[in-house]
Amino acid sequence: MLPGAWLHWACLLLLLRLAQPCPVGCDCFVQEVFCSIEELAAIPRDIPPHATNIVFIETSFTMVEARAFSGSPNLTKVVLLNTRLSHWEPDAFGGLPSLQDLEITGSAFPNISANIFSNLTSLSKFTLNFNMLEALPEGLFHHMGALASLQLQGNRLQTLPGRLFQPLKHLKTLNLAQNLLAQLPEQLFDPLGSLQTLRLSNNALTSLPQRVFAKLGSLQELFLDGNSISDLPPEVFSQLFCLEKLWLQRNAIVHLPPSVFSSLGNLTFLNLQGNALWELPADLFAQTKGLISLSLSHNRLETVSEGTFANLSNLSSLTLSHNAITQLPAGIFRDLKELIKLYLGSNNLTALHPDVFQNLSKLELLSLSRNLLTTLPEGIFDTNYNLFNLALHGNPWQCDCHLAYLFNWLHEYNDRLFNIQTYCAGPAYLKGQVVPALKEEQLVCPVTRDLLGFQAPRMEDREPGSSWDLIAEERAAWSRCTYSNPEGTVVLACDKAQCRWLSVQLSPRQGSQGLMYNATQEWKLKSSCGYMKVIVSIEAQAGEP
Ligand SMILES: *[C@@H]1O[C@H](CO)[C@@H](O)[C@H](O)[C@H]1NC(C)=O
Ligand SMILES: *[C@@H]1O[C@H](CO)[C@@H](O)[C@H](O)[C@H]1NC(C)=O
Ligand SMILES: *[C@@H]1O[C@H](CO)[C@@H](O)[C@H](O)[C@H]1NC(C)=O
Ligand SMILES: *[C@@H]1O[C@H](CO)[C@@H](O)[C@H](O)[C@H]1NC(C)=O
Ligand SMILES: *[C@@H]1O[C@H](CO)[C@@H](O)[C@H](O)[C@H]1NC(C)=O
Ligand SMILES: *[C@@H]1O[C@H](CO)[C@@H](O)[C@H](O)[C@H]1NC(C)=O
Ligand SMILES: *[C@@H]1O[C@H](CO)[C@@H](O)[C@H](O)[C@H]1NC(C)=O
Ligand SMILES: *[C@@H]1O[C@H](CO)[C@@H](O)[C@H](O)[C@H]1NC(C)=O
Ligand SMILES: *[C@@H]1O[C@H](CO)[C@@H](O)[C@H](O)[C@H]1NC(C)=O
Repeated sequence: MLPGAWLHWACLLLLLRLAQPCPVGCDCFVQEVFCSIEELAAIPRDIPPHATNIVFIETSFTMVEARAFSGSPNLTKVVLLNTRLSHWEPDAFGGLPSLQDLEITGSAFPNISANIFSNLTSLSKFTLNFNMLEALPEGLFHHMGALASLQLQGNRLQTLPGRLFQPLKHLKTLNLAQNLLAQLPEQLFDPLGSLQTLRLSNNALTSLPQRVFAKLGSLQELFLDGNSISDLPPEVFSQLFCLEKLWLQRNAIVHLPPSVFSSLGNLTFLNLQGNALWELPADLFAQTKGLISLSLSHNRLETVSEGTFANLSNLSSLTLSHNAITQLPAGIFRDLKELIKLYLGSNNLTALHPDVFQNLSKLELLSLSRNLLTTLPEGIFDTNYNLFNLALHGNPWQCDCHLAYLFNWLHEYNDRLFNIQTYCAGPAYLKGQVVPALKEEQLVCPVTRDLLGFQAPRMEDREPGSSWDLIAEERAAWSRCTYSNPEGTVVLACDKAQCRWLSVQLSPRQGSQGLMYNATQEWKLKSSCGYMKVIVSIEAQAGEP
């Protein structure tokens, strides 16, 4: 930069400074003041009187004197972030009739006395996050009737005075997350008739008083996750008619009272992940008809009964992964017309009913990974027109004829497999092969059941007097899978363990020839179990008639 230009900027800065005095170590803007120099040893006395916002970041002063800010009576916002504050004189924030937003975050003081904040009648947002507070005095919010948001996250509060929140009739948001609260006084929240969001996440609650939320008729969001709650009182949510979202994940809930959610007609989001539930009461969700998202993953569920989700016609995401579910009733998802995401991974499912996903026409994502599935029934995805994200890995897929439906489905929609690493666990010669990379001809059932039953070849097609030929009844008794060529002249019948008989019609039809001496012929035979190749060699040996 040219020296002239530099001089010009220096003069301009000087003019600005002169025009607008600013405390040493701070930056002053039109009405905002930022003080972030560590050496700042006290609240400056020369804060511009017209300032409305002041922010201190990582400053080293430890005390706020009485009425320290009263020279700037128009301050509406005071923020002290990561400072070394630990002492306060009474009425420290006195003389600030317009103060609306006061934040003291990241300092290390274990207690605070009520008279520091007296007279803050216009305060609407009060934040005391991450300060190591161990207790709060009962009168702390005495004149704060205008408070709408109170943040007390990340302290070391173990209990709270029962009448602490008495003045806070207009409070809309209360955050008590990440403290050490082990119990709550039953009347603690009674004054908070306007409360919309209550955060109690990550405390040490083991139980809740029956009527602790009884007066919170306006509550919309309730966070109780990350505690150690093992039992919920049956009526604990019974007055929360406006509740829309409820977080109960990462607790120790073993069983839920059947009607615990029955007043929650406005509930759209419910998270029960990471509890110890092994059973769900039949009508648990009968009244929460507006649920959109429901998570039950990481529990101990072994079964889920047919009608459990029957009324959830708006449900769009259902998570049942990481349980021990062994089977699902055919109609369990029948009414979930809006379902888009269904997570069933990491369970003990061994088989699925062909109709279990029927009518889930909006389903886009389905996870079946890490179960014990060997195959999927024919037609299982026929009505899932929008399914494009399917997770199948981590199952012991049996790559035989029964997998043909899935195989063809995957090939028809070859971009839809979420994790291509989906391997065959059997039969032995296909073990470890990637399912979608197989050829359809490899999916054969050499020794499995023929569900369609045995169909005996017509008598006139059989070679008369063939030494392999057995009486029809005997064949029917143990033949389970019958392979033949399209002409029906070569028929092979197998049961589970081995192939029991072969019929080859050698007497030529018109226009074809029989087998010559010393000749080999092969046929590709098909059955409902799959394909089989049969090779017949005839060798005439010298000396025999
Ligand atoms: C405070 O604000 C009022 C109204 O906006 C104004 O009249 C007054 O001059 C301001 N006071 C200071 C010290 O700037
Ligand atoms: C409240 O403010 C008034 C006047 O501004 C003052 O006289 C009084 O000391 C303050 N109250 C407390 C408890 O500091
Ligand atoms: C607050 O904590 C300080 C130590 O940080 C202690 O000296 C003081 O007695 C405590 N005050 C109250 C009221 O507990
Ligand atoms: C849903 O909440 C509204 C208030 O927001 C309330 O009037 C209504 O009764 C609630 N609906 C149900 C089904 O509880
Ligand atoms: C389902 O969602 C629709 C659209 O958002 C809404 O109008 C309807 O009330 C919801 N149904 C229930 C039972 O909440
Ligand atoms: C709720 O589900 C139950 C059980 O399936 C059923 O009897 C009832 O009719 C359903 N109610 C509504 C409103 O869908
Ligand atoms: C699927 O929907 C059709 C038509 O809406 C209905 O007749 C059938 O019973 C449904 N199937 C299941 C399993 O709910
Ligand atoms: C589920 O499967 C796991 C491992 O495959 C097994 O340890 C567990 O006992 C099974 N649980 C049930 C209920 O079958
Ligand atoms: C068939 O092969 C055997 C030995 O491989 C031979 O001895 C015999 O002569 C052959 N017969 C005819 C008809 O070719």
